[in-house]
Amino acid sequence: MFNPSLYQQRRARLLQQMQRGIAIVPTAPEALRNGDAHYPFRFDSHFHYLTGFDEPESVLVMLAGDKPQSILFCREKDMEREIWDGFRYGPEDACKLFGFDAAFPIAQLDDKLTELMGNQPALFHPLGAHAVWDDRILALRTRVQAKSRSGITAPNEIHDVRMLLDEMRLIKDNSELDIMRRAANISAAAQVRAMRATQPGKMEYEIEAELLHEFRRNGAAGPAYTSIVAGGTNACVLHYTSNNTRLKDGDLLLIDAACELDGYAADITRTFPVNGKFSAAQKDAYEIVLAAQTAAIAAARPGSHWNQPHDDALRVLVQGMLDLKLCSGSIDSVLESGDYKRFYMHRTGHWLGMDVHDVGNYKLKDQWRDLLPGMALTVEPGLYIRPADNVPEALWNIGIRIEDDVVITQQGCEVLTHAVPKTVAEIEALMRPS
Ligand code: GLY
Ligand code: MN
Ligand code: MN
Repeated sequence: MFNPSLYQQRRARLLQQMQRGIAIVPTAPEALRNGDAHYPFRFDSHFHYLTGFDEPESVLVMLAGDKPQSILFCREKDMEREIWDGFRYGPEDACKLFGFDAAFPIAQLDDKLTELMGNQPALFHPLGAHAVWDDRILALRTRVQAKSRSGITAPNEIHDVRMLLDEMRLIKDNSELDIMRRAANISAAAQVRAMRATQPGKMEYEIEAELLHEFRRNGAAGPAYTSIVAGGTNACVLHYTSNNTRLKDGDLLLIDAACELDGYAADITRTFPVNGKFSAAQKDAYEIVLAAQTAAIAAARPGSHWNQPHDDALRVLVQGMLDLKLCSGSIDSVLESGDYKRFYMHRTGHWLGMDVHDVGNYKLKDQWRDLLPGMALTVEPGLYIRPADNVPEALWNIGIRIEDDVVITQQGCEVLTHAVPKTVAEIEALMRPS
């Protein structure tokens, strides 16, 4: 049974922070694929965070002040449409079951908003997220302004409501962490299944199918982002998603794939040998990335700022680049010149939550923000070595990334994705034929 109190508490917190004014938060639009076929509907994350209500064509309106109110606009019951498209709650039941103060048919939105906006000093809205909503809401505000001779005023402050919501979402509550742990466990099982299924001669998409199978059979909505299943040289293409190459004996396979469960993403990368045994050169490069990741995870704790894990991982990676003769000089000179960017061109992580690259600022007043308990982030250093004249040939086309999801705790961090093998010995043991 759905428990509305969690969402009511989130709305109450937002209303308190708004202090006064009206907030309008629509869910995502439905997207047409072609003809009358739609892309699968995915609610807007902010809307879901505040309501738990996942039907399309829904809008949350909130009024702050002495008598705070949360009002839902949603589709009406419609037997004809329900025969074609499935169940819908309708305003009356949605109001009761999801704990709103009132609910109205979505068709009444414009007229009701014209009323509700009257005499509100401030308007909060995800400004710029959807041009269609920006235009519609500004046009409604103009309608309110036209009532000025009746003594009614329109909001004269407009705020991006995401400034408040992003900060709320940055610190995960227990219910969110529970879902994220489950999303991480399903994703970890999928990565293990993919490792077990890998053999020379298979196609990358066959391994992708193993991942999808594990996601769906455990109730996940599907991948949280397009799965990357990149054998050999494909691993050096950071956003490779074609997944249509045959896997070769002697190559590595990089898999960056994880599921979305109940609106929350995991994000895992593992890199392992197609034939189950690392070559000497692959092992050398792999151990460097693993050491960098270990250093970054150690820095993911209260007392660190956002960039500390990246800084620490980078120093380990650069030392490794010097050891492998990919770069020359000292750690500081390579950091200073940026020469390492030939082999490591992305950052070591991002916030994680409902969105795989989740919301929340990384800096506050020009300073990297402090890591605090409840913040969830990825830790994902890598090394990508393309063929070049001054690069030892044994390392050509090796692409490695190791990515885990962590939540900052009081003492350090909890690694949500610990269940996927990561050391050379663990991976080789898992892949050894029994
Ligand atoms: N899978 C997307 C990322 O790692 O950022
Ligand atoms: Mn990531
Ligand atoms: Mn990833």
